[in-house]
Amino acid sequence: MANQPPPLTGREQTFSDTQLIVTKTDPKGIIEYANELFIKVSGYSEEELLGKPHNMIRHPDMPRGVFKLLWESISSKRELYAYVVNCSKNGDHYWVLAHITPSFGSNGEISGYHSSRRAPNRKALDVIIPLYKQMKDEEAKYSNPKEAAQASFNFLRRILEEKGTTYEKFIYAIELNKN
Ligand SMILES: Cc1cc2nc3c(=O)[nH]c(=O)nc-3n(C[C@H](O)[C@H](O)[C@H](O)COP(=O)(O)O)c2cc1C
Repeated sequence: MANQPPPLTGREQTFSDTQLIVTKTDPKGIIEYANELFIKVSGYSEEELLGKPHNMIRHPDMPRGVFKLLWESISSKRELYAYVVNCSKNGDHYWVLAHITPSFGSNGEISGYHSSRRAPNRKALDVIIPLYKQMKDEEAKYSNPKEAAQASFNFLRRILEEKGTTYEKFIYAIELNKN
């Protein structure tokens, strides 16, 4: 779904290492729950958030390829860790390391998704920001959004192959600052 971000301020918001930003969604990514910190950092009221697609906080610097990886993982019942930059209502941005997992109903089917986000290791962002920029540059070669997402997804896969690692190991290593 198309989402128009507010004019960006370039100002970064941060939050403490001990805090968690939490949301829950239905199987389509519609926000059903937001904790107090999410409401505070996003700048939206609970009423503005509930019932809205999660892409309402999407930041234009986020590569489509990361969201492709996200949805492919969670809809296949696998958890995913991802660095995400989000956009607040006032155009500020904030970085998170998100852990996104499916929740299951009594029939074993996916009943929704859950995301817990904490403040990222700042040194990890020194790796992630240029990587996402390269992924965005790759996407800029395509006018079709699906092709763009596939291209930057492939780009990420190539980079990981060259490094001889997997996505999970890569994220773990940069968060522990062992890249
Ligand atoms: C539980 C959950 C949490 C999500 N959290 C975020 C988030 O914090 N920021 C974001 O941009 N997208 C988040 N998404 C992904 C969005 O649903 C969406 O795929 C993404 O914003 C890309 O939107 P677009 O395809 O319209 O560009 C989340 C999805 C789920 C299921």
